[in-house]
Amino acid sequence: MDKYILERDGQLDFFKVFLPRVKPDLGIDDILADNNDGVINGNLLEFKLHVTDLNAVLFQCIKYLSALRVKGKPVPANILIIDVNATTVWVYHSAQYLADIEKLYSGGASKDNTGFIGSDAEAVLHYDQPLDVESIVVLLKECNFTKIHIDENCIVGWATSFYKAVPTARKEDFLGDDTGKHKTIGEIRKPVHFAQYIYPYIGQTNIRFNYLMDKLNDTIQKKNLGAFYTHKLYAEKSLELVRTAIARVPAGNDYIILDRCAGTGNLEAGLTDEELSHCIVSTVEYYEYKVLQELLGAKVRHIIPPIETAETFNAGLVTGADALSKDYIDNKIIRQYIDNPKCTIILFENPPYAETTSVEHQKKGVGAKSSSWKQSYVVAEMKKEVRGTASNDLGNAFIWSGFKYYLRQPTDSYIVYSPVKYWKAQHLIDKEFLGGFAFNRHHFHTNINACIMVALWSNKAASINNIQLQALDIDEKTNSFVSFGTLDIRRIYTLYSKVYYDKRTNNDDVAGNVLLGYDGTPARDGVKTTLKPVYNKNIIGYMVIDSSSFDNPDLMSVLIRCGLYKGHGFYLREDNYLEKLPMFCASRYITYNTSWTERARIMKSADGASRYKADVASGKLLQFLLKCLLFTCTEMQCHMRSFIGSDGRYYRNELCLDGTNGETIALRDIKRLILGDKEKAVLKQWETVLHWAKKAKNYNPALTYGVYQIYAELDTSHIDETTGDTIWDNVELHTALAGLKTLVKEYYNSEIVPVLFEYEFLK
Ligand SMILES: C[S@@+](CC[C@H](N)C(=O)[O-])C[C@H]1O[C@@H](n2cnc3c(N)ncnc32)[C@H](O)[C@@H]1O
Repeated sequence: MDKYILERDGQLDFFKVFLPRVKPDLGIDDILADNNDGVINGNLLEFKLHVTDLNAVLFQCIKYLSALRVKGKPVPANILIIDVNATTVWVYHSAQYLADIEKLYSGGASKDNTGFIGSDAEAVLHYDQPLDVESIVVLLKECNFTKIHIDENCIVGWATSFYKAVPTARKEDFLGDDTGKHKTIGEIRKPVHFAQYIYPYIGQTNIRFNYLMDKLNDTIQKKNLGAFYTHKLYAEKSLELVRTAIARVPAGNDYIILDRCAGTGNLEAGLTDEELSHCIVSTVEYYEYKVLQELLGAKVRHIIPPIETAETFNAGLVTGADALSKDYIDNKIIRQYIDNPKCTIILFENPPYAETTSVEHQKKGVGAKSSSWKQSYVVAEMKKEVRGTASNDLGNAFIWSGFKYYLRQPTDSYIVYSPVKYWKAQHLIDKEFLGGFAFNRHHFHTNINACIMVALWSNKAASINNIQLQALDIDEKTNSFVSFGTLDIRRIYTLYSKVYYDKRTNNDDVAGNVLLGYDGTPARDGVKTTLKPVYNKNIIGYMVIDSSSFDNPDLMSVLIRCGLYKGHGFYLREDNYLEKLPMFCASRYITYNTSWTERARIMKSADGASRYKADVASGKLLQFLLKCLLFTCTEMQCHMRSFIGSDGRYYRNELCLDGTNGETIALRDIKRLILGDKEKAVLKQWETVLHWAKKAKNYNPALTYGVYQIYAELDTSHIDETTGDTIWDNVELHTALAGLKTLVKEYYNSEIVPVLFEYEFLK
């Protein structure tokens, strides 16, 4: 009879027996790091309850090894297939299967493996026999690896491993070659750190990796160059705009197409030779420059600098090619065209994208100060003319300087890739719009689904409020466009804080001392506070709905019981709280509408304020406001809690539907909501949540609970020690909360969102 019914039990027993003899300090988690059954030293292990087809299992292992290569991880020299019931180990050598390991596989490694023909195993060992046990121990101690070849499928993985292993390394240390003036021979050509794992790359130049050069940047460059390359299909599509711009060139004029941040020339790749003969290209990163030279140098009119000299390489960058420097703006090669009235200027660029004040950046510890572009000439000049956060954006520095220093005539054009914010919210330019597309940022070497606009601007001044873009996603499987119709981009003018925040102070407000954090619990000791808290019986909460954009949406959407330690919001008072709730509702839009077409396109505005206020005053919007109340009381981002403050006062959550300890303000007001099927469903599910919440171990009958407090304090869980899975202590409560979430999302999108758009809370 089988000893094991579960493969995992056999696997764990194997580890228990052998690890103490091989590497006692190795944890199971270290062994299982890559979704296979384990790697120990130079051995890949694959366990089976019963092996029925050795070739099929071998092929599965080959797929795992292929995945290790792509990730930039060493490929073990031995493959051990282990039948846990037969206590048998078949040993294979991976070197023999290198050609198959160097292929790419998609789909689960354990699927579709029949039909593979491998050789016989090198050895077959039985671990119920002591001699073989010793042989297995010896094998497991072996640290041999099969060297792999570097190609475009794995180079990014190996670059990541390299910069991790050698944190001070620069791109040249990884990628350097023997061509050109700067001769650092990089790791891929002369492996030192990875000598055991990779064959030297024999390609003379890096042209094979042209489309990946942004992903091969070292850590410092990544932060300063903000490089996200354009997908080939998008690059080709935007040539339509370039050709429209060329068609605008007045008869008798010469023209140039200038790309100051061309990278390896993706945007220009689809231009005809004739069009290329009008191009001037440059890029600041040295290895991009070399590839750009190799790919386009002979075809374009100019490349900056024209040839490589001993001075060209400067700490990984190209001397004279920094588009944000004064030198570049004064560059004589370009100036001769700018100064020629018979030459039309077309800029065609996908500027680097980096917003160093964003939370994403701060989290990585690469804050605003660390970026060298912030100290550049162009940024300094821009700051003199452009106020506010717009000057914190690297892309904006390109756009602003494009119009400032290069475009002069109405027939000049700028075709530029960038999120719409610069035009929509920051009003960086006011020019005539001649066409454009909305593309999905996901296809620019990031994981973020968001809207990137490529727009054709003429240099003619124009004041427009609304532009339309044809929206195109890409199906990566078929490498073709997927149309998302036409998208509106509407300009926004007013922030919520300007017209909607309640700026009143009441005569009977008294100084308070309760300040909270984002999760509605008391602010941490020692945290820097900027709000002087007040107390009043009529205060039921504190709201901050910051920023017009949906970057970091949760941090920009605060609704808590008392003041936020950082301030920048307003106290929600009983007499007018209802009309403030649409701001909170609007701030949740992106969470429930995650399509790439929405993120970075839809923003928050108070542009409809006068209409809104009039309709609130007339009572026309009462039912809508009550719907917003229902949403606010049942949505997780409302971080109101009931608690006893450090001042000894009991702060009850009034924006929740728990009437256990008497009617809350929300319960009082929601009585006026006309209940349709959707409202009834949400309310019923809330009752279910509350019912199960009351059975939770931590439930405190003296408190009045909202959804978030239930989630945070009562829906507890623990980790199962054996399986590592999360176990919910109160499954029914957890289920009920999940159900509520689904209903609330549907309710929001059907009942609330359309009105938010109507009154331009969302625009
Ligand atoms: C978004 S990528 C675009 C590359 C290419 N045009 C494309 O669309 O795939 C931006 C490029 O700008 C380059 N870059 C960044 N800062 C620069 C600067 N100050 N001057 C010139 N080029 C710069 C980066 O190295 C990167 O290649």
